[in-house]
Amino acid sequence: MGEGPPHRPVVRNRQGLYWAVRLYEFLVRPLAFLLAPEAAHNLALSLISRGLVAAKPFEHPLLRQTLFGHEFLNPLGLAAGFDKNAVAVDRWHQLGFGFAEIGTVTALAQPGNEKPRLFRIPENQALINRMGFNNVGADAVAARVGEARPKIPIGINIGKSKLTELENATEDYRASFLALRPFGAYFVVNVSSPNTAGLRSLQEKGPLGEILAALKEIDSEMPLFVKVSPDLELSALDDVIKVCQEHFLTGIVATNTALSREGISSSEAGGLSGKPLQARSNKVIAHIRSSAPDLAIIGVGGIFTAADLYDKIKAGAHLAQVYTGWVYGGPSLVPRLLREFTTRLKGEGIRSLAELRGS
Ligand code: FNR
Repeated sequence: MGEGPPHRPVVRNRQGLYWAVRLYEFLVRPLAFLLAPEAAHNLALSLISRGLVAAKPFEHPLLRQTLFGHEFLNPLGLAAGFDKNAVAVDRWHQLGFGFAEIGTVTALAQPGNEKPRLFRIPENQALINRMGFNNVGADAVAARVGEARPKIPIGINIGKSKLTELENATEDYRASFLALRPFGAYFVVNVSSPNTAGLRSLQEKGPLGEILAALKEIDSEMPLFVKVSPDLELSALDDVIKVCQEHFLTGIVATNTALSREGISSSEAGGLSGKPLQARSNKVIAHIRSSAPDLAIIGVGGIFTAADLYDKIKAGAHLAQVYTGWVYGGPSLVPRLLREFTTRLKGEGIRSLAELRGS
């Protein structure tokens, strides 16, 4: 790992942190929320990629783990979908993340669905998106990550191109994997986005097994995960678990966005993320944990606070990710949350994340 640009900490101490949070809540977020959600997202990503937004990372030995051959300074990562094209791939450590997952990347470049395709639902602390895997394609992303010097592990999430027929999905995942393989600390096979027609049917035993076998044939050493939908029946989840075990996968990312809309005030089509996803995501994690203790779990869905991270790890997650909570919580969220989380671990006399997980 080479030298990157110097940190530009905007949060220097607890009082600084307090004012950064206040500033975000009362000024930056209201202004950003005046913009259309996707415009705000693009602006934020552009500022982050230039190193203009940062928050002093929080570090503590209690948060460190070595997992599947990589060192993670803390367990909280950026979830897939925020940096689809890896434009800020060597900046995420400056916001305190322990790792970041880029993508979803598809073999072919594609524009995604028609706009508007991203919606805020602040009263539910949620988002709905139907982006449709807008991305510049595997070769262009490979060229970008090939030049970057990230300081944290980078996962790469791959999906099926819209133009590729479902029966040719394996070839599409293969092509992305071949192009991006040198640059990922781990890979995620995304078969759970609700925004590509038929994609979720690839969670079924036959097609999923075929994709995993093809990727394992290319590289049996690369840590490989499958990302699952929160809408799966437990019996279908058990099938996914079995296929993952048969192909010696490293683990499962649980979960993607949901189609269910219980108690939600918006009926926009797309995947629901944020607070309403939290309980379901934790249930899926606990189920995987109890039925397949050999699989690593990256837990994602509805993390907003230190308590939410605590619950994810306690349910069985080795690592966790955040997307929606970060949109609402702002750039200081990760260090703030990790500091509170560490204070709680110390208070409870917990000596490691593995102990919290009960392993
Ligand atoms: C996502 N998510 C997502 N997941 C994925 O595997 N590939 C993707 O391209 C995307 N894209 C995407 C776009 C937007 C706008 C959102 C809000 C989410 C899903 C994301 O990674 C995560 O699984 C869910 O959002 C649940 O986590 P949160 O948002 O509740 O923390």
